[in-house]
Amino acid sequence: MTTPSKLALVPFVSVDNMMKLVNKIGPAQMIAEIADYIEADFKRWELFDKTPRVAAHSEEGVIELMPTSDGESYGFKYVNGHPANMARGFQTVTAFGVLARVDNGYPILLSEMTILTALRTAATSALVAKYLAPKGSKTMAMIGNGAQCEFQALAFKTIVGIDTVRLYDIDPDATAKAAKNLAATGLEVISCTSPEDAVAGAQIITTCTADKQCATILTDNMVGAGVHINAIGGDCPGKTELHRDILLRSDIFVEYPPQTRVEGEIQQLDDDHPVTELWRVMLGQAEGRRDDKQITLFDSVGFATEDFSALRYIHDQLAHHDTFVELDMLADPDDPRDLFGMVARAAS
Ligand SMILES: NC(=O)c1ccc[n+]([C@@H]2O[C@H](COP(=O)([O-])OP(=O)(O)OC[C@H]3O[C@@H](n4cnc5c(N)ncnc54)[C@H](O)[C@@H]3O)[C@@H](O)[C@H]2O)c1
Repeated sequence: MTTPSKLALVPFVSVDNMMKLVNKIGPAQMIAEIADYIEADFKRWELFDKTPRVAAHSEEGVIELMPTSDGESYGFKYVNGHPANMARGFQTVTAFGVLARVDNGYPILLSEMTILTALRTAATSALVAKYLAPKGSKTMAMIGNGAQCEFQALAFKTIVGIDTVRLYDIDPDATAKAAKNLAATGLEVISCTSPEDAVAGAQIITTCTADKQCATILTDNMVGAGVHINAIGGDCPGKTELHRDILLRSDIFVEYPPQTRVEGEIQQLDDDHPVTELWRVMLGQAEGRRDDKQITLFDSVGFATEDFSALRYIHDQLAHHDTFVELDMLADPDDPRDLFGMVARAAS
């Protein structure tokens, strides 16, 4: 049997090891650190090879590949979105991802990304709100209390400084689960019985529901002047959360327009409806929040660079934390041309 060389061994972060890493670093600190990586990569936007994600749609949901590269590293995420999964005992969203060297194409990290997606989505939402939400925002309404919910609440507490979250879900069990999980975070948690109740007094509204249809989670009259909306759940063709009239009253901020025009809330608008790209706001090239009457909307769909940043962060943690195993994933014959010989020798 041959022993694989160090180069051929790929660090693998399992779900178990990801949980250990999150608990070692602490979820709030990890979200804040991932947000720093995401922000740094948004600020190098023009370096990235960008493409809308490649989506395979079915009756039940979608399976997507999300690739990107900064010229030095290449990354992709495999992710699904199946709104009916929860009722069948499966996650709505599961994911894994790869980071590789561009110079020789060798993968340098394979990681679970179901937990990492929740962390990076929360980090992105709160990072964006840092630029767009009203200064001094203290209360967030959180509509949809599923898998992403607590990560979002924690991210907004850590990065934006909210102290109160008002929860609502059509399923009261989901709200009870989130309230229990958030009890020890220091947030004041208020469980609400209607979406109207949840948005009362909130400066930030996060919608994070899963439904494979154009739903109306927020109607126009629920959104007052000056609010920041963080709309996460509408992220597929034919899957939206906001009434169109809200979009018409909002200044809309997006990750990557060619993807968001197809998948985001703005699929309800004309293709030339003005939107602002977040990287420009982060670089100071475009205005974020102008005044306290403006409604700002982050039409979040999740873009490949955010996963790339999260993978880059996890890869950097490998030097400090022993939370990975090495996989014999790449064939590594002594003579690179003697692949056949290596297989044949393994028989003896
Ligand atoms: N933008 C992004 O980057 C990003 C990242 C991850 C997930 N998502 C999307 O976010 C959504 C939520 O993901 P999740 O993993 O938390 O899903 P989940 O299935 O765990 O939770 C969704 C919750 O929404 C609730 N819900 C459904 N319809 C509702 C309604 N009308 N009003 C109130 N609550 C309602 C459900 O009861 C459930 O508790 C999904 O649509 C997913 O595709 C987006």
